[in-house]
Formats: sequence, structure tokens, C-alpha cells
Amino acid sequence: PRYIWLSRHGESQYNLEGKIGGDALLSERGVKYSKKLKSLVEQYIPNHEKLEVWTSTLRRTQQTAQYLDYPKKHWKALDELDAGSCDGLTYDEVAEQFPEDFAARDENKFEYRYRGGESYRDVIIRLEPIIMELENQENVLIITHQAVLRCIYAYFMNVPQEESPWMSIPLHTLIRLEPRAYETLVTRIKADI
Ligand code: F6P
Repeated sequence: PRYIWLSRHGESQYNLEGKIGGDALLSERGVKYSKKLKSLVEQYIPNHEKLEVWTSTLRRTQQTAQYLDYPKKHWKALDELDAGSCDGLTYDEVAEQFPEDFAARDENKFEYRYRGGESYRDVIIRLEPIIMELENQENVLIITHQAVLRCIYAYFMNVPQEESPWMSIPLHTLIRLEPRAYETLVTRIKADI
């Protein structure tokens, strides 16, 4: 069978502080996950000797891949949804500083585009080359971000695009997708750290 392996980066300093966006490094717990990921890969990925690892260009995904000794590609197209003016803020600060935007996002999370940033729809469009490239690949682990993974996951699960913002992609979990002719099977391997 052909599998596609997905993981969020390990917990970052920004995750701990509840801030969105940025280019933070991993927290201590996030670093533990990066070590654990190496053993999960060796234990669960058949033919992991031939694995390719794709990350975003942001430090937290590359740091999560630091113990994985496989060929790597760093894609700008895998960077987290750009929160524009809200980058680096907590959700409370967004609500305070940009109340109308906060309400608009609540109203339509799929279409809402951050000022100077992106919407989920924008992310889906920029992911197209990644999805195309994935179709030609045998053995890839993608380490990227929450919003990006929601879009990739919804695509393979055949969920309508508009529902992408609500897919549940927890931290510290290796996800295995097995695309079949009429459905995609999914297995979640939770790292116990
Ligand atoms: O909080 C982590 C994070 O990856 C942010 O960087 C990003 O803005 C957010 O999740 C996306 O999730 P949501 O669309 O639910 O705000």
C-alpha cells in the first residue's frame, strides 16, 4: 500500500504562549517530540530507509525533523497560514485590537483573509503543487503546521474544502493516510511524551 505520513511540528514556544504565526523554536516538550518522532518513524514506516521528509521553511518544522536522517525538502508552500497584521498576537489580542476581523473570521473562517495575510482558501490554492507532487511520491513524511495540515487532510479525506478549518490535527501525533480508490484510510499514532 501507498502511505502518506503527516505530522505537525512539535510544540513551539509560541504554542505555549498561545501566539499565532511567527517563527519560534520548539519548547522543551517539542524537542522531546522531535526525538520521539525518530523512533516512531523507524517503528511504523515500512521502508523508512527510502523516506523523504518535507518541511516548511519555518524553524519549528525543520527543528522537528532534526533527528530524521533522510533526504529533505523545505517548501515555502508548506509555511503556516499567514496571519498578516495579527502575526505574533494571541487570539485575545486579536479580538481586542481587531474586533471586526475577529468577528468576520468567526462568521466565515474558511473565506476570512487576515489583513496582509491569507485565508484557508488561499492556503488550499498554494498547496496545489504540493498535492500534485505528492501524487508522484511513494514514501513521504510531511512535517508542517496546523492550518496547512487541515487542508491536506481534508483533501485526502474528501471532505468539502469549506470544512478544512475544523479538521482536528493534534500536536505530537503521526498520522498515516492510505489513499484507496474510493476512500482514504487514516491511522493516528499518538506519541506518548
Ligand atoms: O496556533 C498555532 C497555529 O498554527 C497558528 O500559527 C495559526 O494561525 C493557527 O494555528 C491556525 O489555526 P486557526 O485557523 O484555528 O486559528
